[in-house]
Amino acid sequence: MNLNALVISNEILCKNNMLMRLFVPDIAAKAKPGQFLNIICSSDNKLILRRPISIMDADAEKGCVDIGYEIRGEGTMLLAEQKKGAKIDVMGPLGNGFCIDDNFSNIAIVGGGIGIYPLYFLAKSLGECNIDVFMGYQCAGKVILEDEFKTEGCNVYLSTDDGSRGHSGFITELFSKTYKPGRYDMIFVCGPEIMSRKVVLMVRSNGERSQVSLEERMGCGIGACLVCSCEVKTAEGIGRKTVCKDGPVFNGDIVFPEVD
Ligand SMILES: Cc1cc2nc3c(=O)[nH]c(=O)nc-3n(C[C@H](O)[C@H](O)[C@H](O)COP(=O)(O)OP(=O)(O)OC[C@H]3O[C@@H](n4cnc5c(N)ncnc54)[C@H](O)[C@@H]3O)c2cc1C
Ligand code: FES
Repeated sequence: MNLNALVISNEILCKNNMLMRLFVPDIAAKAKPGQFLNIICSSDNKLILRRPISIMDADAEKGCVDIGYEIRGEGTMLLAEQKKGAKIDVMGPLGNGFCIDDNFSNIAIVGGGIGIYPLYFLAKSLGECNIDVFMGYQCAGKVILEDEFKTEGCNVYLSTDDGSRGHSGFITELFSKTYKPGRYDMIFVCGPEIMSRKVVLMVRSNGERSQVSLEERMGCGIGACLVCSCEVKTAEGIGRKTVCKDGPVFNGDIVFPEVD
């Protein structure tokens, strides 16, 4: 669905990261954790190609959707310039989203950097579960959503690559110390590929389940151009799926097929 979204606010969250609230009731009513918006980042068509940004939160009653984003290049720079009252063209909600089972009781969420944004909406949607959240960042200045996860009752484990906050090193180290087979009903993962791969393979080698949100460069965002295709395991061997339409969330059993 192609819609005009009204910018309610667009504020600095931390170093190079912004939090934007959009009034877009049709998307807020349908959004599921793990889905994303494909956005034309400026109202004056300076950039034709849309940029995919995950839904960080949605409030169907208020008609609002929140997105958190890091300023990386031209698109996100233009998005950061949007002021309250601006209208931007968004498509969404796109993609499949995470599968949530009512029987879940113990959950692990593992996120790195901007991968943490969609996991917040997921944590809010998991109901009464016991949730351990493993959050990895480059440095203390880039820590996002720590208090928000704690407010949702999550147990937060935090690491920074440079040791300026929490565990010094990668979040995969903290996760591997805590993870024991049988401890979690599901492990949700989103972040840099190297992090996601490590967690998914660790869990898979124990015959356990995970769901991982993958990131690829995108064009159309709706399964038409195949720019975002990734390799997956199929009954016949290795096949391809689109991250935008078949994903971005995939069952951990089928991703990174070259490994086993
Ligand atoms: C499904 C999905 C959900 C996403 N959700 C978020 C989110 O919630 N918050 C957020 O900050 N970002 C998110 N991203 C990444 C975001 O789309 C890119 O950072 C953005 O498109 C960069 O656009 P740009 O014009 O600012 O930078 P560009 O000039 O296009 O690129 C700047 C740098 O970012 C890298 N880059 C661009 N696109 C991607 C991509 N898709 N994946 C990995 N690296 C990329 C480029 O290689 C380059 O190094 C998501 C991506 C996908 C595919
Ligand atoms: S972005 Fe075009 S098929 Fe996924």
